[in-house]
Amino acid sequence: MKNILVTGGTGFIGSHTVLELLIQNYRVTVIDNLSNSKLESLKRVEKLTRKNAHFEHIDLLDVKALELLFQSSHFDAVIHFAGLKAVGESVEQPLKYYKNNISGTVNLCEAMNKAGIKNLVFSSSATVYGDPDSSPIPEKSPLKAVNPYGRTKLTIEYILRELHTSDNSWNVALLRYFNPVGAHESGEIGEDPNGIPNNLMPFITQVAIGKLKELNVFGGDYPTHDGTGIRDYIHVSDLAAGHIRALKKLEEKPGLVVYNLGTGKGSSVMDVIKAFEKASGKKIPYKITPRRPGDAAVCYADVSKANQELNWQTKRDLEDMCRDAWNWQQKNPNGYP
Ligand code: WQD
Repeated sequence: MKNILVTGGTGFIGSHTVLELLIQNYRVTVIDNLSNSKLESLKRVEKLTRKNAHFEHIDLLDVKALELLFQSSHFDAVIHFAGLKAVGESVEQPLKYYKNNISGTVNLCEAMNKAGIKNLVFSSSATVYGDPDSSPIPEKSPLKAVNPYGRTKLTIEYILRELHTSDNSWNVALLRYFNPVGAHESGEIGEDPNGIPNNLMPFITQVAIGKLKELNVFGGDYPTHDGTGIRDYIHVSDLAAGHIRALKKLEEKPGLVVYNLGTGKGSSVMDVIKAFEKASGKKIPYKITPRRPGDAAVCYADVSKANQELNWQTKRDLEDMCRDAWNWQQKNPNGYP
């Protein structure tokens, strides 16, 4: 497998995965509608690797453009990141999420099918576990959507599962990400959210750089060691490496496989604040505020299946994640130009 199409490859996880693919000598084509990312990320990936990726400005809703792409190029596999991913926005604009995430994926799979390309790595999410009863969470746990964003991810998992059932020459890897954070160690690429960050780590880095005044800790009364929510934060570079392993797994023609990509460790909001202060030397002012509706108390992965079947282990700890997130933010106070 040499020629890889990456949808959404200019985004946070996409750009880190494209970097890893280029380092491992894959030939990469990136398509992205640039609605939530900048082409600058790909330019930096090329500078870091001194290798080129081919880029096409394509929206997955543009069926004609997809058809032309698959007619003009051959791919051995597709890694599919492209999708909207803001939980709050999905509650306000569910149709935008269903159209963009689900119709976009159906268009992609139809174009792949027509071109006889049936190897797909899909960017799923731990959000498909809903509000888990317990952690660590194994892949066989019950699945439940708790917001439109999560429902698009779960629906796409079902679509891909049924596509494989209808034609078992499809090889699909569903990768359920826990909480991707951090940045490439160079600080050249990283997380570049639009507007005020919804997620914890980019909010903290913007407090540290002085763009935001203080962190609101959503809830201090959860049944956890310090009352704050627990998540499984995973370094984006470890996550990227997991995608390369999943590609290699598809070469074994495994059919449909599902893996949690996390560290298997839970960290509370206070743990993250402390680790960040230690890694950056910056004090993070915060105040405890009421819980955010829909938040689970505790959510972290059972990663034994990915460890064994993908021969993949995370290498970076919470302090590495904080150090690299801070390094990126310091070098790019306003994100990508
Ligand atoms: C982490 C923890 C918050 C912000 C979401 C999506 C998930 C995935 C990752 C796409 C929680 C607390 C947060 C803040 C806080 N995205 N927090 N103050 O909600 O676990 O997961 O992002 O796939 O699908 O649901 O991530 O970073 O928003 O929150 O106290 O300003 O930090 O309560 O405990 P979350 P998060």
